[in-house]
Amino acid sequence: MQIGPYKLANNLVLAPMAGVTDRPFRQLCKRLGAGLAVSEMVSSNSLLWGSDKTRRRADHQGETAPRAVQIAGADPHMMAAAARYNVDHGAQIIDINMGCPAKKVCHVMAGSALLQDEHLVGRILTAVVAAVDVPVTLKIRTGWNPQQRNGIAVARIAEQSGIQALAVHGRTRACAYTGEAEYDTIAAIKQQVNIPVIANGDIRTPEQAKYVLDYTAADGIMIGRAAQGRPWIFELINHYLQTGTTKAEPEIATIRRVMLDHLQDLYEFYGEYIGVRMARKHISWYSKGQPGGAAFRQTINRVEQRHEQLAQTATFFDRLEAQVGLAA
Ligand SMILES: Cc1cc2nc3c(=O)[nH]c(=O)nc-3n(C[C@H](O)[C@H](O)[C@H](O)COP(=O)(O)O)c2cc1C
Repeated sequence: MQIGPYKLANNLVLAPMAGVTDRPFRQLCKRLGAGLAVSEMVSSNSLLWGSDKTRRRADHQGETAPRAVQIAGADPHMMAAAARYNVDHGAQIIDINMGCPAKKVCHVMAGSALLQDEHLVGRILTAVVAAVDVPVTLKIRTGWNPQQRNGIAVARIAEQSGIQALAVHGRTRACAYTGEAEYDTIAAIKQQVNIPVIANGDIRTPEQAKYVLDYTAADGIMIGRAAQGRPWIFELINHYLQTGTTKAEPEIATIRRVMLDHLQDLYEFYGEYIGVRMARKHISWYSKGQPGGAAFRQTINRVEQRHEQLAQTATFFDRLEAQVGLAA
């Protein structure tokens, strides 16, 4: 898949997820086979740019190209300024969020709320494309609600405005995360535009990935929640798409190594206090479904020191490995 000058290694994209797709997680997913990883959204409100949170979100040190940063907001001038700010700080692709249903974003008429106002959509997209000399991509839902599924109209506006790739989550704004994603609207959008279309929503397995690619004829797929605690999902999908055969899930020893390296990266990126707190949710995802995982999470979530968190997590996975060894 090609986005502007960037030829991606493959057509698998890590979805932007606020509070999840920080630099350590993006880098991990890229290492494990994601062709592109989009950052957490950065507000277009410049008053927030001085905050530690926004500074961290604009930190791309050591990140593999292309570095894609998502911006959110409803004012064309502020969005243009946000795009410029992030390009100045290392962004190589700017992604615009018109897909997030979060109340915080929708209340200020940003994220997927913008889909209601096609004229404003056009003004925002045109302003951002004109403001930077890097490719601009867009992420949308299929519409505002099931009665107003205007995804096709928005996709045409995007193409006319110079957007270079379009990710579509197969739900409307009103659907939040309920029900199953639908892929018919994504397939219809793909037929109507000539820019790369990336299908998103509920893709959890290599087989589903292939099904969605075939069904929608999309150029790529985007994966969010299925990568939480399973960043190797990109390798598994790549393998399946290339060979038609299923690659085995990683062994406990591999999961342990990936996870402990991930925790170290989090401590280094955030420092101990925030790093330990960020690590809690990842540990909980990595340990989900493992025997004894629930009891382990109760204990580990109370740990405050990085060394203690690392040691207890390593011990939990050592025990799991020993159990697997005994069972074999
Ligand atoms: C915790 C979380 C945070 C998210 N944050 C964003 C965001 O900042 N910007 C955005 O466009 N979408 C955001 N999304 C939506 C995802 O990018 C994606 O569209 C959605 O999760 C559906 O894909 P999935 O079924 O593969 O998870 C978020 C989703 C989750 C679960």
